Parts: sequence; C-alpha cells; structure tokens
Amino acid sequence: MRVEKQTEFEAELKLGLRNLWYPVCRSARVKQEPVGLHRLGMDIVLWRDSHGKICAHDDRCLHRGAKLSVGRVMNDILRCAYHGWCYDTAGQCTTIPTSKTAQAKLAPRLRLRHFETQERAGLVWAYFSDDEDAPTPPLVIPEELEDPAYSGFICENEWKANWILILENLADPMHGPFLHGQSLTLSRGALEDDMRTTRTADGFLVERAGQRGVNFDWSEFYCRESLWVRLDIPLPFGPKGILRILCFATPIDENETLVYFLRYRNLRGWKRAYWRFLYRTFWEKQHFKVIEQDRIILESQRGAQSRMAEHLANSDRGVTELRKFLREKAACRTPH
Ligand code: FES
Ligand SMILES: [Fe+2]
Repeated sequence: MRVEKQTEFEAELKLGLRNLWYPVCRSARVKQEPVGLHRLGMDIVLWRDSHGKICAHDDRCLHRGAKLSVGRVMNDILRCAYHGWCYDTAGQCTTIPTSKTAQAKLAPRLRLRHFETQERAGLVWAYFSDDEDAPTPPLVIPEELEDPAYSGFICENEWKANWILILENLADPMHGPFLHGQSLTLSRGALEDDMRTTRTADGFLVERAGQRGVNFDWSEFYCRESLWVRLDIPLPFGPKGILRILCFATPIDENETLVYFLRYRNLRGWKRAYWRFLYRTFWEKQHFKVIEQDRIILESQRGAQSRMAEHLANSDRGVTELRKFLREKAACRTPH
C-alpha cells in the first residue's frame, strides 16, 4: 500500500499572517443583530451599536462558551442567549443576571477579546493582532477603492482552498491563456513566456517577460498593514480598456478562504454608466465563469498535498517569490 506523505503548509502561515487588517464581510451583512463569522480560524461576532459603529469580539460567551452571535443586541449591549450575561461595546461583561455576587465580583474582571474594525469600500475590515494591547496600525487600502475617478463592484466568494493557494494563483499569470483560454478576456497572447519578479518597498511584482497589456500579464503584491494583489485585465469591448482587479484572501480556516475580487475601472461620463450597466447585465456573468475555473482548479489541488509532487519551471517564479516573501513576513512577525 502506498502511504501518502502529508505535506503541511508552514504552521505559522496556514491560518494567515497576524498583525494585519483583513476584509471579513460586506458592510451590508452587519445590521444591528449579531453576526457570527469564522475568520483566521477564529469565531468572531459582529454587531452595530446605536451610532452605527461595528463592534467585533470573540464569539464565545465567557460564562460557558455559548456563541454570542446566537444572542441579541439591546441598548448597545450584547446579551448571551443562554443565561443572559451581557457585554458592552468594548466587550466588558456588564451583567450576570443569575448571581448578585458574580455580578459584583466576577463581571468587572471579564472582558471579551476585542477586534478593531473599519468600514471602507463597502467592506468590513478587522485587525487580527497577536497582542491585543499593541497599537493598531492605520488601515491602508488600495487607492482605487476610494478614488472618485474609479467606479467598481465587489465580487465575494468562499473557496474550499487554503488562502496560500489563492495567492499562488494570483502570482501565476501564465495560467491565464490556458485555464481561461476560452474566455472573452483571457484568451490572447503567447503560451510560452518567462517570468520576472521584482521586490518593491512593500511587496513584489510578478511580470511576464514577453508581453504586457494582452492578458493577465502582471500582478503586484502589497503587504504592510494589509495584504492585497493588484492586477489588470484588458477588456476587448464594453467599453474597451483596462479592468483593474484588487484581490484579497481572508483565511476562514486552513481549508477555506473568503476571496474578494474588487473590479474597478477609471471611466467617466457615459462610459462609466455604460460599463456599470453592462457589468450588471453581461460582464459579471462572464467574470464569474472565469473565477469558477480558478475555484475548481484550486479546490482540486487538495491543499498542501499539491506541493508534495510539484515540479516548478521558470514560469513559476512568481509562486516561488511569493512563498519566500510570506516566509519572511511570518518570520518577522513571530516573536523570537
Ligand atoms: S453561556 Fe452565555 S450566559 Fe451562559
Ligand atoms: Fe485565473
């Protein structure tokens, strides 16, 4: 019997890099009632206070571990459904209704883990730190997302693949004319090429050596207080020009990832209105077919086992650079 060797992703990486901001859901998903999410291997509860500000905490009641997302919010207080323990917007336990002694002695000492949040570009972002008491860095997001010259749409998906595989796919422009060879946007260009990588101040660039502006020909990785990938896809019509895609991968657990593709264009006047109309009626379905091809392939790689028998070529330079880059980031984030 052949025993398959289990190859793991690096332990310090498989649930994401810590001390970073990640998009965790769309803004519209969080209303006043609590929402339970699983992100970076953790259960978190999100809810809105009466000022509209999003609060995020460990989704685990400090009494006996019931999920707080099953509870209710009243007067800026999150109340556990099980025995009614209450928490305020800072996660401080305020009420233990079953015991006056516990209320007086225990409640002041109990506070839920708190996550900083911000709402930007239609998404809720949360900061996942190693040390809750360390200062939270400002959230920096790609400038296109808040530049009025750009207009865009959010595409959100959950894929059954580790987040590293999602990033590796984005560091691999060569798959465009193969995997997406039948698509309207990614069928053109040479099938053979070399790949170049260049370090930048906060990340690195992956570029096809032989072509630009033809297919998915380059991607730019940025990682400082958040991690994203920027790339361009030339659109042949409707209206013709560049579709800029900003990609984010938020680990759900080690086998699943929340994936965002934010598709933006720098268009004004009738062209902007026309593209927005065509996106809703035509392009969105076309793009969905393309990312379904990615999803099927990434889910077929069976996680870290894909690394076991791989043979990398020159065209995989982006993948190699990404792995090196992530290991470096993990090393400088792990306390020595
Ligand atoms: S588990 Fe939450 S109040 Fe008991
Ligand atoms: Fe792809």
